[in-house]
Amino acid sequence: MIQKYSFENSIPTDSVVMDIPVSTKMPEYLTVVKEEKHIIYHMKRQDIVYGLGEATRGINKRGYIYSSNCSDECSHTEEKQSLYGAHNVLFVKGKRNFGLFVDTSQRVTFDIGYTDMDQLLIRVENGGFDLYLVEGESLDEIVAEFRGLIGQSYIAPKWAFGYQQSRWGYKSEEDIRNVASQYEQADMPLEAIYLDIDYMERYKDFTINTETFPQFEQLVSDMKEKGIHLVPIIDAGVKIEKGYEVYEEGVEKGYFCKTEDGEYFTAGVWPGKCHFPDFMDKDARIWFGSKYSFLIDKGIDGFWNDMNEPALFYTDKGVKEFFEFADTLRGENLDIDKVFALRDKMEHLSNNEEDYRSFYHKLNGKMICHDQVHNLYGYFMTRAAREAFDLLYPDREILLFSRASCIGSHRYGGIWTGDNCSWWSHLLLNIKMMPSLNMCGYLYTGADIGGFGCNISEELMIRWIQFGVFTPLFRNHSALGTREQELYRFKNQDVMRNILKLRYSLIPYLYSEYLKAAFQNTMLFRPLAFAYPEDAHCEQVEDELLLGESLLLAPVYEQNARGRYVYLPEKMLCIKYRSLTDMEQTVYEKGHHYIKAGLEECIFFIRPNRLLVLGNEANRTTELKEEAYQVIGFEAEEAVYELWNGYVVKNGLRKPKKKCYTL
Ligand code: GLC
Repeated sequence: MIQKYSFENSIPTDSVVMDIPVSTKMPEYLTVVKEEKHIIYHMKRQDIVYGLGEATRGINKRGYIYSSNCSDECSHTEEKQSLYGAHNVLFVKGKRNFGLFVDTSQRVTFDIGYTDMDQLLIRVENGGFDLYLVEGESLDEIVAEFRGLIGQSYIAPKWAFGYQQSRWGYKSEEDIRNVASQYEQADMPLEAIYLDIDYMERYKDFTINTETFPQFEQLVSDMKEKGIHLVPIIDAGVKIEKGYEVYEEGVEKGYFCKTEDGEYFTAGVWPGKCHFPDFMDKDARIWFGSKYSFLIDKGIDGFWNDMNEPALFYTDKGVKEFFEFADTLRGENLDIDKVFALRDKMEHLSNNEEDYRSFYHKLNGKMICHDQVHNLYGYFMTRAAREAFDLLYPDREILLFSRASCIGSHRYGGIWTGDNCSWWSHLLLNIKMMPSLNMCGYLYTGADIGGFGCNISEELMIRWIQFGVFTPLFRNHSALGTREQELYRFKNQDVMRNILKLRYSLIPYLYSEYLKAAFQNTMLFRPLAFAYPEDAHCEQVEDELLLGESLLLAPVYEQNARGRYVYLPEKMLCIKYRSLTDMEQTVYEKGHHYIKAGLEECIFFIRPNRLLVLGNEANRTTELKEEAYQVIGFEAEEAVYELWNGYVVKNGLRKPKKKCYTL
């Protein structure tokens, strides 16, 4: 059951798709202090608080304070209160289960037992908001109701479930061809190569650097012939450059954000000084979305939208103030405080709060300060692209995911979790974030596999792909200047290859469970406590996940570990995967176990009376052949697995295609 409460007029977010009448009667367990915009719940000792999507720390969010403020945050350490997404939803599990969604474009703080260990305090910083209270029996049910409220999740094309290679630093056609041929020579599957900012001319959106990519269309079609998709990046900022069509057009038509004085707002990002499309303005959205055709018409069928918090590296004003401050210190005998003050000033040049308050959007004919709608910016950029795809290419499946997001954008595209590092702790963070993201509707999602920043070790790469094989977005991406981490570069190529082959054989199941999650508003990744609510120990387990209806995952995420402790809430079949022809199967009873897992062994579990449909060996999704699928399971003589292997579109409605499998 969903109840809606409204507090003043709020800026429309389009996060929800259902019209729910406003209630006035708040249940006695929630206190709302209207003037302060506080929502308070007294947590019982045993209460668990799930949710918040893309956030640091555990699956159970209790014990810290978080804030929804889309941030270009390149250091995902545990003190951080905001990452790139604004996912204002919590699910409380306790004597009473319920969900709370704060629908607002404004920043919201979630103090979940940080200030007072037993108090959950939600504070809306500014403006009006709608509060949705979702009550139900089980958490599964509550999440499903909430997901129904916010609308069906985006369904990515099947090829996007293949393995994908990316790196900031592929500078030319030659680099791209080289990556493709190295994967081919190593007999390693590969479905897509990403084009980071270097494919563009001076980092200008919707351009191609014709010096380094002289035959772009030929490259796209040569790759397509090999079954490899090229996926270019699109950044939010549009370079200010005379004669550059996108810039000129945007200026002429008034599609960029403005300052109070009516000037176009300017800030520096990768291309240098930029203007920022006003995605809140429908006309600007249609205009920017239509620009993707420049690449689609060259054969491109996938994009990643970046820097759309938006990231602002500097403004002229900030730089000026910095130099003025530096000048006051010139010639002085500096003490440490002054040096630190100088350093802080330098650091605050980027993503400065004051800059976010200094520009405006056009919304339904009114000018609105950016800080009021900051959390919607990336969402509306994703929306701009998707609305254009739907309009201009209604029959094409185009991959789209974004860095910044806000609930609502899950209907238009996926997200990746941004600039993580090649750290073991970030592998664990990747594991813990998956169910939280699913709760918010983000199904096509994943981390930069191997880590974006810092240098990867081979062992971490192996363990990371052993988890990555289960995440819908399975993309190896890394930053310029870090150790190169294409899988063919490592010594244990056989191990890497076997893991990639496992991915392809998991795709029938993964895609099927993905479709079920999208059509039925369920989660692909679930914490154990969702499926075994009566088993108190499950509430403690944060390093195991359920994947779809049949699998339990227990990835190894520690350096030098050659096994791990696993808690099984019921008897299960352990698959110790070494290769497609070498899979050891052992049944374990309910309880605690130490399961050995050598570096080359990927372990996962099948639940009793459930089945796993495994695909044939393949290097591309198109090589998966249903007649060659196998079924594994245990204590499953009666079990039937419904494989959702695609969908048909009739009268604009999507209907899944299903096929039943038994042992
Ligand atoms: C941002 C993105 C990263 C990308 C880089 C260069 O940091 O998060 O994925 O590689 O910009 O475009």
